[in-house]
Amino acid sequence: MFHIFKSSPKTPHEIFFHTDIHCHLVPGIDDGQKEAEPASELVEHEKGWGIDRIFATPHVTQDTYENTPGTIQPAFDLLKEAVGRKGIGVELHYSAEYRMDNFFLQQIKAGNLRPFPNNFLLVENSFVQEAWNLDKLLFDLRVKGYIPVLAHPERYAYYWAKRNRYQQLKDAGILFQVNVLSLAGHYGKQVRKVAEELMTNGWIDFLGTDMHNSEHADALDHYFASKNFLHHARQLEGFIRNDTAF
Ligand SMILES: [Fe+2]
Repeated sequence: MFHIFKSSPKTPHEIFFHTDIHCHLVPGIDDGQKEAEPASELVEHEKGWGIDRIFATPHVTQDTYENTPGTIQPAFDLLKEAVGRKGIGVELHYSAEYRMDNFFLQQIKAGNLRPFPNNFLLVENSFVQEAWNLDKLLFDLRVKGYIPVLAHPERYAYYWAKRNRYQQLKDAGILFQVNVLSLAGHYGKQVRKVAEELMTNGWIDFLGTDMHNSEHADALDHYFASKNFLHHARQLEGFIRNDTAF
């Protein structure tokens, strides 16, 4: 595995993990990329950072984006074709980012989920409030054999005033996926501060770009070239499981 501190980077932005487990690059089915061609350019952009394995994770939310493998697969195929035409050497897969709402409960019941390999499952709260009965829901998912990975816990503002909630969730065995954009300060100082606290506590299991568009790509370019990134990478390298969990 390429090591950022033991050999010189191939590009100024070469990073220390090779698998992105959170991005919105499947065209036309959520608030990420609309067309396959520009989406494939963002895949190429990720390749420039040293990422050569991408799990695209379209939103699955009640009313707004009621995606299922049936809606994701054909759109994903368009992305795959566009990436193939460009000859970008990236392994492409898809899963989804599941909002824990009633639609999600229906999909669980119907056996219509698309987890990562080894049954890891990316789930999110709404940004307004924690999912109803979250502890029971996460427990039930684990009983069903899923390994829940909570997407961007640092971004839920209602947790900031009660930081012990993070401890409770970790104690319950929930894995955390922090956004690189959070560490980059893209969502503001408070989100970065909480992300850094999660890092210092050793609670970050996965990183994800959560990239939706070229603005995010530019923000990440800037961050990967910064001293801040080197500082964060020293703490995270060897701990995050992006390349090893599945
Ligand atoms: Fe996302």
